[in-house]
Amino acid sequence: MNILVTGANGQLGNEMRILAKNSADKYVFTDVVDATEESIAMLKKLAGDDIKTETEHLDITNIDAILEVVKREKIDAIVNCAAYTNVDAAEDNYDLAELLNAKAPENLAIAMKEVNGLLVHISTDYVFGKEPYNTPCKEDQKGTPTGVYGATKLLGEQKIIATGCKHMILRTAWLYSEFGKNFVKTMLNLTASKPQLKVVFDQVGTPTYAYDLAQTINTILEDYKKEAFNSQFSILNYSKSGVYHFSNEGVCSWYDFTKMIAEYAGNTSCDIQPCHSNEFPSPVKRPAFSVLDKTKVKELFGIKLPYWTDSLKQCIHNLV
Ligand SMILES: NC(=O)c1ccc[n+]([C@@H]2O[C@H](COP(=O)([O-])OP(=O)(O)OC[C@H]3O[C@@H](n4cnc5c(N)ncnc54)[C@H](OP(=O)(O)O)[C@@H]3O)[C@@H](O)[C@H]2O)c1
Repeated sequence: MNILVTGANGQLGNEMRILAKNSADKYVFTDVVDATEESIAMLKKLAGDDIKTETEHLDITNIDAILEVVKREKIDAIVNCAAYTNVDAAEDNYDLAELLNAKAPENLAIAMKEVNGLLVHISTDYVFGKEPYNTPCKEDQKGTPTGVYGATKLLGEQKIIATGCKHMILRTAWLYSEFGKNFVKTMLNLTASKPQLKVVFDQVGTPTYAYDLAQTINTILEDYKKEAFNSQFSILNYSKSGVYHFSNEGVCSWYDFTKMIAEYAGNTSCDIQPCHSNEFPSPVKRPAFSVLDKTKVKELFGIKLPYWTDSLKQCIHNLV
Protein backbone atom coordinates (compact mmCIF):
# COMPACT_ATOMS: atom_id res chain seq x y z
CA MET A 1 0.00 0.00 0.00
CA ASN A 2 0.97 3.62 -0.34
CA ILE A 3 0.41 5.39 2.98
CA LEU A 4 0.42 9.12 3.66
CA VAL A 5 1.22 10.29 7.20
CA THR A 6 0.23 13.86 8.11
CA GLY A 7 1.69 15.69 11.12
CA ALA A 8 4.67 13.32 10.77
CA ASN A 9 6.92 15.44 12.98
CA GLY A 10 4.66 15.30 16.03
CA GLN A 11 4.69 12.67 18.77
CA LEU A 12 2.61 10.01 17.01
CA GLY A 13 3.98 10.82 13.56
CA ASN A 14 7.53 10.10 14.70
CA GLU A 15 6.50 6.74 16.18
CA MET A 16 4.88 5.96 12.80
CA ARG A 17 8.26 6.65 11.19
CA ILE A 18 9.88 4.04 13.45
CA LEU A 19 7.31 1.37 12.60
CA ALA A 20 7.38 2.19 8.88
CA LYS A 21 11.06 1.33 8.74
CA ASN A 22 10.33 -2.42 8.66
CA SER A 23 7.21 -2.18 6.53
CA ALA A 24 6.85 -3.40 2.95
CA ASP A 25 4.47 -0.50 2.28
CA LYS A 26 5.52 2.85 0.84
CA TYR A 27 5.20 5.76 3.28
CA VAL A 28 5.08 9.47 2.50
CA PHE A 29 5.73 11.60 5.61
CA THR A 30 4.29 15.12 5.59
CA ASP A 31 3.96 18.07 7.95
CA VAL A 32 3.94 21.88 7.96
CA VAL A 33 7.17 21.93 10.00
CA ASP A 34 10.51 20.22 9.43
CA ALA A 35 11.80 17.57 11.82
CA THR A 36 13.87 19.09 14.63
CA GLU A 37 17.49 18.05 15.16
CA GLU A 38 16.44 16.61 18.52
CA SER A 39 13.78 14.42 16.90
CA ILE A 40 16.12 13.24 14.16
CA ALA A 41 18.74 12.29 16.77
CA MET A 42 16.09 10.38 18.78
CA LEU A 43 14.80 8.61 15.65
CA LYS A 44 18.35 7.47 14.83
CA LYS A 45 18.96 6.37 18.41
CA LEU A 46 15.77 4.28 18.47
CA ALA A 47 15.69 2.97 14.89
CA GLY A 48 19.16 3.33 13.38
CA ASP A 49 20.85 5.78 11.02
CA ASP A 50 18.91 4.59 7.97
CA ILE A 51 15.53 5.74 9.37
CA LYS A 52 13.56 7.98 6.99
CA THR A 53 13.66 11.54 8.39
CA GLU A 54 12.59 13.50 5.28
CA THR A 55 9.38 15.54 5.41
CA GLU A 56 7.29 16.66 2.45
CA HIS A 57 5.47 19.93 3.15
CA LEU A 58 1.70 19.39 3.31
CA ASP A 59 -0.79 21.71 4.99
CA ILE A 60 -3.94 19.68 5.57
CA THR A 61 -6.10 22.79 5.58
CA ASN A 62 -5.43 22.97 1.81
CA ILE A 63 -7.63 20.43 0.02
CA ASP A 64 -6.02 21.02 -3.40
CA ALA A 65 -2.57 20.27 -1.96
CA ILE A 66 -3.93 17.08 -0.33
CA LEU A 67 -5.52 15.88 -3.57
CA GLU A 68 -2.33 16.63 -5.51
CA VAL A 69 -0.14 14.45 -3.26
CA VAL A 70 -2.79 11.71 -2.91
CA LYS A 71 -3.09 11.35 -6.68
CA ARG A 72 0.62 11.77 -7.44
CA GLU A 73 1.65 9.13 -4.88
CA LYS A 74 -1.40 6.88 -5.52
CA ILE A 75 -2.24 6.92 -1.82
CA ASP A 76 -4.36 4.01 -0.48
CA ALA A 77 -4.56 5.19 3.14
CA ILE A 78 -3.93 8.32 5.19
CA VAL A 79 -2.87 8.27 8.84
CA ASN A 80 -3.78 11.70 10.21
CA CYS A 81 -1.46 12.59 13.10
CA ALA A 82 -1.89 16.37 12.63
CA ALA A 83 -4.09 18.42 14.94
CA TYR A 84 -4.40 21.54 17.05
CA THR A 85 -3.40 19.95 20.37
CA ASN A 86 -2.97 22.91 22.74
CA VAL A 87 -6.00 22.37 25.00
CA ASP A 88 -5.67 25.65 26.95
CA ALA A 89 -4.87 27.89 23.96
CA ALA A 90 -7.80 26.42 22.01
CA GLU A 91 -10.17 28.30 24.34
CA ASP A 92 -9.06 31.62 22.77
CA ASN A 93 -8.54 30.25 19.25
CA TYR A 94 -11.80 28.57 18.26
CA ASP A 95 -11.45 29.30 14.54
CA LEU A 96 -7.97 27.83 14.25
CA ALA A 97 -8.86 24.81 16.42
CA GLU A 98 -11.94 24.18 14.27
CA LEU A 99 -9.95 24.58 11.05
CA LEU A 100 -7.31 22.03 12.13
CA ASN A 101 -9.46 19.62 14.14
CA ALA A 102 -12.65 19.59 12.07
CA LYS A 103 -12.29 21.16 8.60
CA ALA A 104 -8.85 19.66 7.85
CA PRO A 105 -9.86 16.06 8.75
CA GLU A 106 -12.92 16.58 6.53
CA ASN A 107 -10.53 17.56 3.70
CA LEU A 108 -8.61 14.32 4.21
CA ALA A 109 -11.86 12.34 4.26
CA ILE A 110 -13.04 13.98 1.02
CA ALA A 111 -9.70 13.05 -0.61
CA MET A 112 -9.98 9.44 0.58
CA LYS A 113 -13.59 9.27 -0.62
CA GLU A 114 -12.47 10.46 -4.06
CA VAL A 115 -9.83 7.72 -4.46
CA ASN A 116 -11.71 5.10 -2.38
CA GLY A 117 -8.99 5.03 0.29
CA LEU A 118 -8.99 4.58 4.07
CA LEU A 119 -8.62 7.45 6.55
CA VAL A 120 -7.13 6.57 9.94
CA HIS A 121 -7.84 9.56 12.18
CA ILE A 122 -6.90 10.21 15.80
CA SER A 123 -9.39 11.76 18.21
CA THR A 124 -9.40 12.22 21.95
CA ASP A 125 -10.85 11.25 25.34
CA TYR A 126 -11.65 15.00 25.72
CA VAL A 127 -14.78 14.43 23.60
CA PHE A 128 -16.10 13.28 27.00
CA GLY A 129 -16.01 14.93 30.40
CA LYS A 130 -18.93 17.24 31.10
CA GLU A 131 -20.95 14.49 32.75
CA PRO A 132 -19.18 13.02 35.77
CA TYR A 133 -18.95 9.46 34.47
CA ASN A 134 -17.18 7.01 36.74
CA THR A 135 -17.17 3.98 34.48
CA PRO A 136 -14.96 3.67 31.38
CA CYS A 137 -16.41 5.55 28.39
CA LYS A 138 -17.69 3.46 25.46
CA GLU A 139 -17.55 4.45 21.80
CA ASP A 140 -21.30 4.96 21.42
CA GLN A 141 -21.63 7.12 24.54
CA LYS A 142 -22.79 10.68 23.79
CA GLY A 143 -19.91 13.17 23.42
CA THR A 144 -19.90 15.78 26.21
CA PRO A 145 -16.77 17.91 25.67
CA THR A 146 -15.82 20.45 28.34
CA GLY A 147 -13.90 22.82 26.07
CA VAL A 148 -13.04 23.98 22.55
CA TYR A 149 -10.39 21.32 21.92
CA GLY A 150 -12.75 18.42 22.70
CA ALA A 151 -15.68 20.07 20.89
CA THR A 152 -13.70 20.65 17.69
CA LYS A 153 -12.27 17.10 17.77
CA LEU A 154 -15.83 15.73 18.14
CA LEU A 155 -16.96 17.87 15.19
CA GLY A 156 -14.02 16.48 13.17
CA GLU A 157 -15.21 12.91 13.82
CA GLN A 158 -18.74 13.83 12.67
CA LYS A 159 -17.46 15.53 9.51
CA ILE A 160 -15.34 12.51 8.56
CA ILE A 161 -18.25 10.10 9.03
CA ALA A 162 -20.55 12.39 7.00
CA THR A 163 -18.30 12.15 3.91
CA GLY A 164 -18.95 8.39 3.75
CA CYS A 165 -15.26 7.53 3.32
CA LYS A 166 -13.76 4.34 4.75
CA HIS A 167 -12.56 5.45 8.17
CA MET A 168 -11.00 4.33 11.43
CA ILE A 169 -11.37 6.96 14.16
CA LEU A 170 -9.22 6.13 17.17
CA ARG A 171 -9.89 8.15 20.31
CA THR A 172 -6.83 8.16 22.51
CA ALA A 173 -5.77 9.83 25.77
CA TRP A 174 -2.83 11.39 27.65
CA LEU A 175 -0.41 10.75 24.79
CA TYR A 176 3.33 10.78 25.45
CA SER A 177 6.45 9.70 23.58
CA GLU A 178 10.17 10.35 23.28
CA PHE A 179 9.39 13.19 20.84
CA GLY A 180 8.27 16.81 21.19
CA LYS A 181 6.75 18.26 24.34
CA ASN A 182 4.62 16.11 26.61
CA PHE A 183 3.73 15.49 30.25
CA VAL A 184 6.35 12.76 30.78
CA LYS A 185 9.21 14.95 29.52
CA THR A 186 7.99 17.95 31.55
CA MET A 187 7.75 15.88 34.73
CA LEU A 188 11.14 14.26 34.13
CA ASN A 189 12.64 17.75 34.21
CA LEU A 190 10.58 19.09 37.11
CA THR A 191 11.10 16.07 39.39
CA ALA A 192 14.84 16.25 38.68
CA SER A 193 15.13 19.98 39.42
CA LYS A 194 12.53 20.88 42.09
CA PRO A 195 12.54 19.86 45.76
CA GLN A 196 8.70 19.88 45.87
CA LEU A 197 5.90 19.50 43.35
CA LYS A 198 2.09 19.51 43.54
CA VAL A 199 0.16 17.51 40.93
CA VAL A 200 -3.61 17.13 40.53
CA PHE A 201 -5.18 13.88 41.71
CA ASP A 202 -8.82 14.73 40.84
CA GLN A 203 -8.45 14.12 37.09
CA VAL A 204 -8.37 10.44 36.24
CA GLY A 205 -7.60 8.75 32.94
CA THR A 206 -5.09 6.43 31.27
CA PRO A 207 -1.75 7.38 29.73
CA THR A 208 -0.95 6.21 26.20
CA TYR A 209 2.53 5.55 24.86
CA ALA A 210 2.40 6.81 21.26
CA TYR A 211 4.54 3.86 20.13
CA ASP A 212 1.80 1.45 21.32
CA LEU A 213 -0.81 3.46 19.41
CA ALA A 214 1.38 3.41 16.28
CA GLN A 215 1.63 -0.39 16.58
CA THR A 216 -2.15 -0.69 16.67
CA ILE A 217 -2.46 1.60 13.65
CA ASN A 218 -0.06 -0.78 11.91
CA THR A 219 -2.25 -3.75 12.86
CA ILE A 220 -5.29 -1.94 11.46
CA LEU A 221 -3.50 -1.10 8.19
CA GLU A 222 -2.45 -4.76 7.81
CA ASP A 223 -6.02 -5.91 8.46
CA TYR A 224 -7.38 -3.42 5.92
CA LYS A 225 -4.78 -4.52 3.39
CA LYS A 226 -5.85 -8.16 3.78
CA GLU A 227 -9.52 -7.26 3.31
CA ALA A 228 -8.92 -4.91 0.37
CA PHE A 229 -6.23 -6.94 -1.43
CA ASN A 230 -8.51 -9.41 -3.20
CA SER A 231 -10.49 -6.62 -4.79
CA GLN A 232 -7.32 -4.67 -5.67
CA PHE A 233 -8.38 -2.01 -3.16
CA SER A 234 -11.70 -1.38 -4.89
CA ILE A 235 -13.90 -2.44 -1.90
CA LEU A 236 -16.29 0.39 -1.14
CA ASN A 237 -16.59 -0.42 2.56
CA TYR A 238 -14.09 -1.61 5.14
CA SER A 239 -16.02 -4.01 7.38
CA LYS A 240 -14.39 -2.54 10.50
CA SER A 241 -14.95 1.17 9.67
CA GLY A 242 -15.98 3.04 12.80
CA VAL A 243 -14.99 4.75 16.05
CA TYR A 244 -12.65 2.98 18.49
CA HIS A 245 -11.03 3.72 21.85
CA PHE A 246 -7.33 3.21 22.46
CA SER A 247 -5.06 3.84 25.45
CA ASN A 248 -2.79 1.70 27.57
CA GLU A 249 -4.41 -0.53 30.22
CA GLY A 250 -5.13 0.67 33.76
CA VAL A 251 -6.28 3.87 35.42
CA CYS A 252 -4.42 6.65 37.25
CA SER A 253 -4.48 10.34 38.15
CA TRP A 254 -1.89 12.86 36.93
CA TYR A 255 -0.44 12.61 40.46
CA ASP A 256 0.00 8.81 40.21
CA PHE A 257 1.46 9.26 36.71
CA THR A 258 4.02 11.75 38.05
CA LYS A 259 4.97 9.48 40.97
CA MET A 260 5.81 6.65 38.54
CA ILE A 261 7.72 8.98 36.17
CA ALA A 262 9.92 10.11 39.08
CA GLU A 263 10.38 6.57 40.36
CA TYR A 264 11.43 5.13 36.97
CA ALA A 265 13.79 8.06 36.36
CA GLY A 266 15.35 7.68 39.82
CA ASN A 267 14.34 11.27 40.75
CA THR A 268 13.89 10.39 44.43
CA SER A 269 14.64 13.75 46.04
CA CYS A 270 11.48 15.55 44.85
CA ASP A 271 8.56 15.56 47.32
CA ILE A 272 5.48 15.04 45.11
CA GLN A 273 2.14 15.90 46.72
CA PRO A 274 -1.46 15.51 45.43
CA CYS A 275 -3.60 18.63 44.99
CA HIS A 276 -6.99 19.67 43.57
CA SER A 277 -7.45 21.08 40.05
CA ASN A 278 -8.63 24.43 41.44
CA GLU A 279 -5.11 25.07 42.78
CA PHE A 280 -4.01 25.41 39.13
CA PRO A 281 -6.40 27.87 37.47
CA SER A 282 -6.80 26.96 33.80
CA PRO A 283 -8.80 28.52 30.94
CA VAL A 284 -10.54 25.18 30.40
CA LYS A 285 -12.24 22.74 32.75
CA ARG A 286 -10.66 19.35 32.08
CA PRO A 287 -12.55 16.06 32.41
CA ALA A 288 -12.49 14.61 35.95
CA PHE A 289 -12.87 11.09 34.54
CA SER A 290 -12.07 10.17 30.93
CA VAL A 291 -11.01 6.53 31.12
CA LEU A 292 -11.67 4.83 27.78
CA ASP A 293 -13.17 1.35 27.41
CA LYS A 294 -10.99 -0.47 24.85
CA THR A 295 -12.96 -3.72 24.58
CA LYS A 296 -14.00 -3.07 20.96
CA VAL A 297 -10.51 -2.56 19.50
CA LYS A 298 -9.09 -5.47 21.52
CA GLU A 299 -11.78 -7.93 20.45
CA LEU A 300 -12.05 -6.92 16.81
CA PHE A 301 -8.32 -6.85 16.12
CA GLY A 302 -7.27 -9.57 18.60
CA ILE A 303 -4.73 -7.34 20.34
CA LYS A 304 -3.42 -7.19 23.89
CA LEU A 305 -2.59 -3.74 25.24
CA PRO A 306 0.38 -3.06 27.54
CA TYR A 307 -0.28 -1.90 31.10
CA TRP A 308 0.48 1.82 31.44
CA THR A 309 3.44 1.47 33.82
CA ASP A 310 5.16 -1.11 31.56
CA SER A 311 5.02 1.25 28.58
CA LEU A 312 6.05 4.23 30.71
CA LYS A 313 9.11 2.33 31.92
CA GLN A 314 10.10 1.60 28.30
CA CYS A 315 9.71 5.23 27.21
CA ILE A 316 11.72 6.54 30.17
CA HIS A 317 14.42 3.96 29.47
CA ASN A 318 14.63 5.39 25.93
CA LEU A 319 14.71 8.97 27.20
CA VAL A 320 17.24 8.93 30.02
N1 LIG B 1 -1.19 14.89 23.04
C1 LIG B 1 -2.18 14.29 23.71
O1 LIG B 1 -2.15 14.14 24.96
C2 LIG B 1 -3.36 13.71 22.97
C3 LIG B 1 -4.37 13.09 23.69
C4 LIG B 1 -5.44 12.54 22.99
C5 LIG B 1 -5.48 12.62 21.61
N2 LIG B 1 -4.49 13.24 20.93
C6 LIG B 1 -4.58 13.31 19.47
O2 LIG B 1 -3.54 12.50 18.95
C7 LIG B 1 -3.12 13.02 17.67
C8 LIG B 1 -1.61 13.13 17.66
O3 LIG B 1 -1.23 14.04 18.69
P1 LIG B 1 0.28 14.44 18.93
O4 LIG B 1 0.43 14.73 20.39
O5 LIG B 1 1.18 13.46 18.26
O6 LIG B 1 0.32 15.83 18.14
P2 LIG B 1 1.55 16.85 17.98
O7 LIG B 1 2.77 16.28 18.62
O8 LIG B 1 1.04 18.19 18.37
O9 LIG B 1 1.81 16.80 16.40
C9 LIG B 1 0.92 17.34 15.48
C10 LIG B 1 1.72 17.74 14.25
O10 LIG B 1 0.81 18.27 13.27
C11 LIG B 1 1.40 19.47 12.74
N3 LIG B 1 0.41 20.36 12.14
C12 LIG B 1 -0.16 21.46 12.69
N4 LIG B 1 -0.94 22.07 11.76
C13 LIG B 1 -0.84 21.36 10.62
C14 LIG B 1 -1.38 21.50 9.33
N5 LIG B 1 -2.20 22.52 9.00
N6 LIG B 1 -1.08 20.59 8.38
C15 LIG B 1 -0.25 19.56 8.68
N7 LIG B 1 0.31 19.36 9.88
C16 LIG B 1 0.01 20.26 10.85
C17 LIG B 1 2.06 20.06 13.97
O11 LIG B 1 2.93 21.13 13.63
P3 LIG B 1 3.14 22.31 14.75
O12 LIG B 1 4.01 21.70 15.79
O13 LIG B 1 3.76 23.40 13.98
O14 LIG B 1 1.76 22.64 15.26
C18 LIG B 1 2.76 18.83 14.54
O15 LIG B 1 3.98 18.56 13.88
C19 LIG B 1 -3.89 14.33 17.49
O16 LIG B 1 -5.00 14.10 16.69
C20 LIG B 1 -4.35 14.68 18.89
O17 LIG B 1 -5.53 15.46 18.89
C21 LIG B 1 -3.42 13.78 21.58
